[in-house]
Order: sequence, then C-alpha cells, then structure tokens
Amino acid sequence: MCGIIGIVGNREVAPLLVDALKRLEYRGYDSAGVATIKDGKLDRRRAEGKLANLDRKLGEEPLAGHVGIGHTRWATHGAPTEANAHPHFCNGVAVVHNGIIENFAPLRAELMAKGATFYSQTDTEVVAQLLSAYRQEGLAPREAMQKALGRFEGAYALAVLFEDQPDMILGARSGPPLAVGHGQGEMFLGSDAIALAPFTDEITYLEDGDWVVIKRDLLEIHDRTGKLVERRRQKSQGAAYVVDKGNHRHFMEKEIYEQAEVVSHTLAHYIDFAEGRVKFESSLIDFANLDRLAMSACGTAYYAGLVGKYWFERFARLPVEIDVASEFRYREMPLTGRMAALFISQSGETADTLASLRYCRDHKLTIGAVVNVRESTIARESDAVFPTLAGPEIGVASTKAFTCQLSVLAALAMIAGRARGTLSAEDESKMVRALVEAPRLFNQVLTAIQPQIEMLSRELSRFKDVLYLGRGTSFPLALEGALKLKEISYIHAEGYAAGELKHGPIALIDETMPVIVIAPHDRHFEKTVSNMQEVAARGGRIILITDETGAAATTLETMATIVLPVVDEIVAPILYALPVQLIAYHTAVFMGTDVDQPRNLAKSVTVE
Ligand code: F6R
Repeated sequence: MCGIIGIVGNREVAPLLVDALKRLEYRGYDSAGVATIKDGKLDRRRAEGKLANLDRKLGEEPLAGHVGIGHTRWATHGAPTEANAHPHFCNGVAVVHNGIIENFAPLRAELMAKGATFYSQTDTEVVAQLLSAYRQEGLAPREAMQKALGRFEGAYALAVLFEDQPDMILGARSGPPLAVGHGQGEMFLGSDAIALAPFTDEITYLEDGDWVVIKRDLLEIHDRTGKLVERRRQKSQGAAYVVDKGNHRHFMEKEIYEQAEVVSHTLAHYIDFAEGRVKFESSLIDFANLDRLAMSACGTAYYAGLVGKYWFERFARLPVEIDVASEFRYREMPLTGRMAALFISQSGETADTLASLRYCRDHKLTIGAVVNVRESTIARESDAVFPTLAGPEIGVASTKAFTCQLSVLAALAMIAGRARGTLSAEDESKMVRALVEAPRLFNQVLTAIQPQIEMLSRELSRFKDVLYLGRGTSFPLALEGALKLKEISYIHAEGYAAGELKHGPIALIDETMPVIVIAPHDRHFEKTVSNMQEVAARGGRIILITDETGAAATTLETMATIVLPVVDEIVAPILYALPVQLIAYHTAVFMGTDVDQPRNLAKSVTVE
C-alpha cells in the first residue's frame, strides 16, 4: 500500500515523479504528493484524491528542481486529507513512507514533550520529526538515518530528502519493497520495477533492513547494522511491460480479456505439450514424501488456494491445511510431520502472507510460492517459485492473476498426484489435454456471454444484496464472485457453500435477494439443484451459471441462465471465473463506480 518514488536526476523531475506515481497508483489513491529541492529550498505540492488532482495542481503551480520524492497514499493513520498527504516536512527534512510505524504514538509523545509540533495525524510524520531532531542534535544525515531506523517498529519503505544535501536521497526498507534504479548520471528509488521502468531496467532490490544513499553517480547500501553491503544489480522485466488499457475502458476489462493469452502462457510453463504431461518438478517440493501441505494467502489468492485444496486432496490424496494468512500467521499451527508450505500471491508482497511464510520457514518447512511478481519478497524468500505468467495486473480487482493461479495449482496438484502414485497416466493426460484446450474457449465464451451479462448486470445493480452459492470447487468460486461484486460495485454480497444454505442464510431469501448459483453439470449438480429448489420455493430469484448439460437438465425458472460449454472438471473453476468476473465488472460499470480503483482498496497490501 502506498507507492514511493525518489529521483536524483539531471532534468526537471516533477513530471517524472508524476509519471512514476501513475504506475504506482494501483498501490493507493487516497492522495498524492511530490517534493523537490530547487536552489537549496524544499517545496512540495500535495492533493487529496486521485493523482489527476495533483497533476492539475502542478499544472497551476509548477515545481522546479532536479531532485525529488513522490508518494501515492493508501490511508492508514489519518483521513485522506491534504494535510495527511506525503511528503511530510520538518525543518528541512522531507519524507515519503509506505508501511506503518507501529510505535508512532510513544515516539510522537516523546517528540512533543521536547517541543515538537505535529501537523498531521499520520504515523509517518514522526519519521520526519525524529530525523529532524537528530539533525538538530548535530548528526549528519547518515547517522541520523541509522539512529532513527533503530527506533522504528513496524514496516516501512522510506525516501528522505534533506534540504542541506540537495543532491542526495536516503532510502530504507523494512517490510515493504524498495528498489534502486540505475540511470545514466541519474539514480532512482521506487516501490517496484514497474515504477522505474520508464527510467531504467537496471535494478537493485534492497533486502529487509537495508538503507541506502543515492546520488547521481553513487549508490551506497548499508544493512540494518550500518555495515556497507553489496546487493546484486539485475535487469528488470518491468520495462518490457506496457501499462496501458489498449482499447478497453478499464484495466479490469482488458485483464479479463487477456486471460486466454496469459493462462495459455502460464500453462505452457508447466505442461509438456509434446508429451501431454505436466513437467515434473520433484526436486523443488518432495510431494511424494509429504504427510500434509500447509497453504495460505489472502483474498482472491486465498480462494484460488481453496480450489487448490480440493485438487491436492482429490488427485494427490494430500491433506491440505489452508487458512487466510491474517489468521494463519497467528494460529500457532503445529507444523509437525513431513510438511511443506505453499503461499499464493499476485503481488508477492502481501504482509500477512509473507508473515505466514516466515512462520513456516522458521519451522524449517520447504516453502513454495505461486507468485506473479518474480522479483517480489515472497518469491525471493521461497525455496521453490511457481510463477504465474499473468503480466502486470493493474486493476485492483484481481482477475487474470486468479485464473493463472488456478492453472498453476492444477499443474502442481497433478505433479503431486503423479509423485504420490495417486493419479494415473491416463487421467493426467486427459486433464492435461483439457487444460491445454481451455484457453481457446475463453474468448469464445466471453464474446457469447457478454451481451447477456451486460443486460443482467443492469438488473443486478438495483439490488442491495446478492448471494452466491456453489459446491465443491464451485464453492470457492462463489466466495470469489461475492468478493468481486462487493469490492467494485459496493453491492453487499456473500458466498456460501450451497449445502450451508439451510443452516442459516436461507432466512434471507426473498424476491429482493438474487442468488447466483455456480453449478457445472458435475457430480454435485443434483445436490445443488435441490438447493436451488429451496431458494425457488421461497420466492428467491436464481441466476444459474451452468453448462449445456446442466441447462438441459433443469426446468427451474431462473432470472437468467448463463450457459458455458461442457468442460473437464479441472478446467471448470478456471472457465467459470469468467462469468463471475464479468458480472461484477458490468454491474460496477453500470453503477458508475471507479472500477479499476475502488474506494478504500489498494492493489498491494503491505500492512497487516
Ligand atoms: C481482490 C483482490 C485481493 C487480493 C489480495 C491478495 O480482487 O485482488 O483480495 O487477492 O489482496 O493479494 P496478493 O495476491 O497480491 O497477495
């Protein structure tokens, strides 16, 4: 959450800072700000709301200077006002921060007792105030930084400007990511490689606890203890990605339509097309010798993991312990026996997922990660990285990353099934064929169902609550459908296991509560139809998402029936994600919400 950028450049930096912030806006968009130094004077512009407001302000009141820092905010402490927007200033010190300084309250009290006046409600302002206090005690910038970092608890990526050192920026990382970009006579700091992509593809990723000094032709990296250290300089892939919407209205729409390509690309990484088998990666995780697999993730990635649990248990007879990472990390789960752990994350930076990973690593488990950002912290801290090749996902609501995660988990479950002798070669080859053919169906399905879903979404937008039901692997999809709808349309939605309906939620059913039932004609179909009957008997309106066989097999009256082709059950969750995503997308578009940047959310959740 929050994106930060810093540039020690040799040209006007304000437009460059804004350009980088545009690429970081997915990390937060409650407010934005930039600060530069010109003729030895710090100055800043800040604006509430989207980056466009800051851009407008800079148009009216330009900011000159070749050195500057910038920030796009996802508010944690203090409302998203201009006063709380970064950069925060204190006596010639300017700070931008991503993360949370957890002990900000005692630090603030200590500084106030010494006479400091605070101008914001943020935790970040203590960073500027403390650095300034140390400078006033006579410490040089490096010493002040080292001393201040020793006092912070919590998580931070920081970029700091000192007015009396106009050609230098200091940065620090503990938790959230921070990378240095090497330019030609220029040096950059940024939250990710995508932000730095317009300037350079030569990147150095900082490790936890590192802090840095950058000048035009100097990079000095210190570890937590202050010792000078070397970190690898590498070519980043960020520059290869064009981050634009193409012909689409929103990134989310573009990303929904990209799924045929990226799922196919991802599958190609795991499947040997010539052999019709999953590529064997036994050296990474020894599936054959496991008693249990622990899995954890957040949000949509967690729902992908839930589908994965069904697959690992069914095809590999491997018991799976799965929980949302915010619970997993504190459960003190006994990690006994022969276990490995698998974490799923698009960004690879989600704080709770990372903390769960570290818990398992501390218990000596082999760690696997299904991640989209190859250079992310979760990827770097894992023993085995299973990449999803979805490309940058910019829409805050995850779509293509989800179907790519499912594709990787399907492949891993098959690898595990083969290693454990529970999946026959015939079954594996049948499933592989089905998976390989699946992406070809995607565009056909999207084109076929789009007009119907657009019309349906108009109707859905009139309702206040929506229920999603599913059984088996369709249950996590019901959860995902509800999450997608609520996060971008703000309509209240809940996902339930279809069989749980009668244990409570059925009390909600009436004509004001549409029920979206995800039911391919699989071995659960008849049972799900019984649950639909229970809904219909109580006047509930049903939207059925099924296949041609399912549609032919039910005579129930529905508000709409969305019909997909019949597919193998390993493909079903991947294919059924498409209507689920489109329903949320079109409902939100119809309601006029900000689809790509829904309120209160951010793409990369680096705080607890
Ligand atoms: C919902 C969504 C979130 C993320 C979650 C985990 O559409 O995108 O629920 O899935 O914040 O993020 P990652 O996958 O980056 O760990």
